[in-house]
Amino acid sequence: MTTQAGVETSTSVADARARAIEAEMTDDERFSLIISLLGAVPSIGVPRDERIPEDVANMSAGYTPGVSRLGIPAIQASDASMGVTNPGYRPDDPGATAFPASILIGASFNPKLARDGGAAIGREARSRGFNVQLAGGINLARDPRNGRSFEYYSEDPWLTAVLGAEAVNGIQGEGVISTLKHYTLNCNETNRHWLDAIIDPDAHRESDLLAFEIAIERSEPGSIMSGYNKVNGEYLSGNNHLLNEVLKDAWGYKGYVMSDWGAVPEWDCALKGLDQESGVQMDVKQWGSEAFSDQLRAAFDEGKLPKERLSDMVRRILRSLFAVGADSWGPTPEVDLEKHNEIALETARQGIVLLKNDDALPLPTDKPLKIAVIGGYAQLGVPSGTGSGAVMPVGGFADVIKIGGVGVMGSLRNLFLFAPSPLAELKKALPDAEIDFDPGYTPAEAALTAKRSDIVIAFAIRVEGEAFDNADLSLPWGQDATIEAVAEANPNTIVVLETGNPVVMPWQNNVKAIVQAWYPGQAGAQAIAEVLTGAVNPSGRLPITFPASLEQTPRPVLPGMGTPWGTPTTIEYNEGAEVGYRWFAKTDAKPLYAFGHGLSYTTFSYSDLVIDEGDTLAATFTLTNTGDRPGADVPQLYLSEAAGDKRMRLLGFERVELKPGESRLVTLTADRRLLARYDGDAGQWHIAEGTYKIAVGKAADELELTGETTLSDALFGS
Ligand code: BGC
Repeated sequence: MTTQAGVETSTSVADARARAIEAEMTDDERFSLIISLLGAVPSIGVPRDERIPEDVANMSAGYTPGVSRLGIPAIQASDASMGVTNPGYRPDDPGATAFPASILIGASFNPKLARDGGAAIGREARSRGFNVQLAGGINLARDPRNGRSFEYYSEDPWLTAVLGAEAVNGIQGEGVISTLKHYTLNCNETNRHWLDAIIDPDAHRESDLLAFEIAIERSEPGSIMSGYNKVNGEYLSGNNHLLNEVLKDAWGYKGYVMSDWGAVPEWDCALKGLDQESGVQMDVKQWGSEAFSDQLRAAFDEGKLPKERLSDMVRRILRSLFAVGADSWGPTPEVDLEKHNEIALETARQGIVLLKNDDALPLPTDKPLKIAVIGGYAQLGVPSGTGSGAVMPVGGFADVIKIGGVGVMGSLRNLFLFAPSPLAELKKALPDAEIDFDPGYTPAEAALTAKRSDIVIAFAIRVEGEAFDNADLSLPWGQDATIEAVAEANPNTIVVLETGNPVVMPWQNNVKAIVQAWYPGQAGAQAIAEVLTGAVNPSGRLPITFPASLEQTPRPVLPGMGTPWGTPTTIEYNEGAEVGYRWFAKTDAKPLYAFGHGLSYTTFSYSDLVIDEGDTLAATFTLTNTGDRPGADVPQLYLSEAAGDKRMRLLGFERVELKPGESRLVTLTADRRLLARYDGDAGQWHIAEGTYKIAVGKAADELELTGETTLSDALFGS
């Protein structure tokens, strides 16, 4: 492990080298380093840009020529957080490990899995010659309609930051730069290029920005990707306040800011903090020109872009390459696909959430049951989210069903299915059972199969992804009606949801068990079968609140929804920092399932809370497995009231594995910023003197131990 001092040394060496090498560069070389080119995608008609040398075969989302005389490697960037993607850049690429969706990693509450997955992705990226992985999606899942929630970890800044940082650490440990993206408040996809996200700046610091701030501290990502949207009227790629004043000045961020693809309206973004324009051909489509090519060069020649700023842009890129060692790769690392599959499998096991269980699960494995598996293409595979983050697994998809839609991402909007199928895995796990499959083609037909079975397992899926928000919280293709019908035909119905967001469940009371499997990745079917049969004791916890209806959320109606692609749209995030469970606490609303909720086949008890306070507070308590199976619990520490102000904040969590009867002393310590408010006038965090009430709970609405302490007034940070 590198020590903190070691990190400092390696980054200051990187800074010094970047400074020395940049000084040797010509202006042409400098300008060539601050743009990246989208690779060719012959299958969808994206041509090869002539600036990409002929001998570059491993195309991807970004290519920047290196400067070989100075030892600067070409910069080759690939998507994304759930594996190395290939939407057609490399016809001969056999495929990569398709890890579970980030929201499932969020549900595991397990930073180690984020790190292991990151390291595996880093190795697979590097083995293809990619030295930048466009991973680290850490927008807060603010809206259950957001098409990209599956690419993010959670609705909570602390959970998101801890997991996002570990994913970056895993990737960067392999000598590959990782991004954190999409900076910031890119929390809905509707009209994303024309979206103005309005938020109170202090509340922004306590929510989405706090996730970035903490994740940056814990992982030093080489790059931050700015989002497509505006915040408070300014496009992110040219948002002086958020890029220069907050990211670079207040937080001292040393890496480089790259734009999202097609997100740079004009050259002066360079003055406002953007260091590299990505996928410049997309900017030509979106804005009519490449901002950082001729336009920026002209601005430089006219003295509008200071030489020092150009040098700073280049140095930031270089230091990030040097800091992770991307310029000094040794031999290509061995990629152990079996080991990576194990990581994907273990992640899915830990991130699947048992939402409801009326003694229906685990399924008895020793009885010759007649089981009906219904719907969700469960005979073919498990779904993935769509868009730039979708990974093609080794051997290809089990099937691809075209969905389509408006805009450039419409052609990538597909139902991607990963083999093996849940049906096959259930047959393996239950060799004595007789299993019938019904596609759920009509409710009536599915009910016939359900009626003649002992148990029904209904799979329900939804295609969610980039550039599209979900119109509401229901399941598509009449699946709700099918579940209603099978549950009526057979009360022993279990529902497995494979979605990237919460859905409403009109059939909730009519089914015996509900399992949230998210998009569980290439090993997901096995993990689902193991959870259903009890080979794995479920331990996932919801990283996002499941509302009972959109009426409970801050925006029952999503602005811009239904308008033509390209309509200027303003979303006022009036909930401010009170995102998700914080909003439910503030409005006293009862969700369908609360943040943090998740059942187990064993039971846990909490006792003996002791609070220590100093600069911050720490809670110590005893956690006991009171049931008869080994299992993992995720105790959560919440702030519920701060100096007279009702305020819900997740302060800490830990996933703890316990044998039956075993107890463990757990200590959770709060980051001080989670106890504070951001005071924009002072430019600091402020803990007001007073009583702080905390609770240790199983979920945001299931608080088991409560206590309080007094904190003194404090102003700190920046
Ligand atoms: C997405 C990014 C992605 C980029 C490159 C954009 O459409 O928003 O997340 O990294 O494309 O493919």
